[in-house]
Amino acid sequence: QWQSVPLAPPDSIFQLTAAYKEDTFAKKINLGVGAYRDDDNKPWILPVVKEATRVLLSDDTLDHEYLPITGLPEFTAAAAKLIIGAASPALAEGRVASVQTISGTGANHLGALFLSKFYQWGTAEKKVWLSNPTWANHHAIFKNVGIEPVEYPYYDPKTIGLDFTGFVDALKTAPERSVFLLHACAHNPTGVDPTPEQWKTIAEVMIAKKHYAFLDCAYQGFASGDLDKDAWALRFFVEQGVALLVCQSFAKNAGLYGERVGALHVVSPTKETSTKVKSQLSVLQRSEISNPPSHGARIVSMILNNPSMFEAWKRDIQTMAGRIIDMRKELFRLLTEELHTPGNWDHIMNQIGMFSFTGINPTQSKALTSEAHVYLTGNGRISMAGLNTKNVRYFAESLDAVVRK
Ligand code: LMR
Repeated sequence: QWQSVPLAPPDSIFQLTAAYKEDTFAKKINLGVGAYRDDDNKPWILPVVKEATRVLLSDDTLDHEYLPITGLPEFTAAAAKLIIGAASPALAEGRVASVQTISGTGANHLGALFLSKFYQWGTAEKKVWLSNPTWANHHAIFKNVGIEPVEYPYYDPKTIGLDFTGFVDALKTAPERSVFLLHACAHNPTGVDPTPEQWKTIAEVMIAKKHYAFLDCAYQGFASGDLDKDAWALRFFVEQGVALLVCQSFAKNAGLYGERVGALHVVSPTKETSTKVKSQLSVLQRSEISNPPSHGARIVSMILNNPSMFEAWKRDIQTMAGRIIDMRKELFRLLTEELHTPGNWDHIMNQIGMFSFTGINPTQSKALTSEAHVYLTGNGRISMAGLNTKNVRYFAESLDAVVRK
């Protein structure tokens, strides 16, 4: 049995974490996985999460019963408001079907599964358009449910910025009713987002072509430090009536990576449709996981529903986003003012969110790992959260060395 099963390669991102842990070199740096670290390179438990956990643990009324299939209602309701906007008519009109998921990955999977079963593809084939590049797991998630991933131009290596013309051309030439996966903010892996003006054009074309927006929002708060600002594009799409769903994660912005707290929100044109959508999401969820886990959802629910905790959370997010911005500035300063590293490094400052696409090639990226013990994905993406005041100089010097080779 199973002799013919081919050996699969290790996951491109998590193998970096494993290799980093094995490495005994004192100055090693992990810039692989997108997980926040404090200035001492330690995982950071947000103070507000600590507080919410303390309150939960002292609550004798809580038990370990099953949550409803679609999740903790006070969590999904508050999560929907956070991302779609408390004042959104779509929410007031009951047009949003929200389901608690196994973090952002689970939301992507459930959304993809739902589309694979119910989306009316029209002239479009059963394909999803993914940005080139995107989070590698997007490809796997859609393939798993029988939707073929195809790519639209996104990143322009010449400018280390957005290939907006190529992107819009792809939107215009794709068959009507095509599904486009868009990163709501803080694009992973490039850190390059469209401007508000560009989002407006994207929305216009999406509406004209009746495309479906499959929005992934894993970094709300990390792009600008402001939760509302980071949800602007998504809220604008809802307002304009772009057909869409959104995948939401609390892994990064609440530092709840291992708790798997997320949600899928599907926006429908009417309340009746939304009720039907939610009923089918519930059926799919039942066959996959039965019920989502309660602990992380209770923590986030408490933070979202308690005004003073909500304010504290916003401060914690600013702490994380602020530290990352400081690292961008320091890396940029070191490369340009101190080391005079060849090339233009403006993108380090222009890119946003947890990641930066350095623009180095796979050979240089490999050399950083083998020669300097710096772990990063082969595409040259670095997680800025892995840099701190103690290691940023070593990283800048190592980067400088591979660029000069
Ligand atoms: C990343 O891109 O590093 C994160 O989203 C972690 C993951 O699941 O890959």
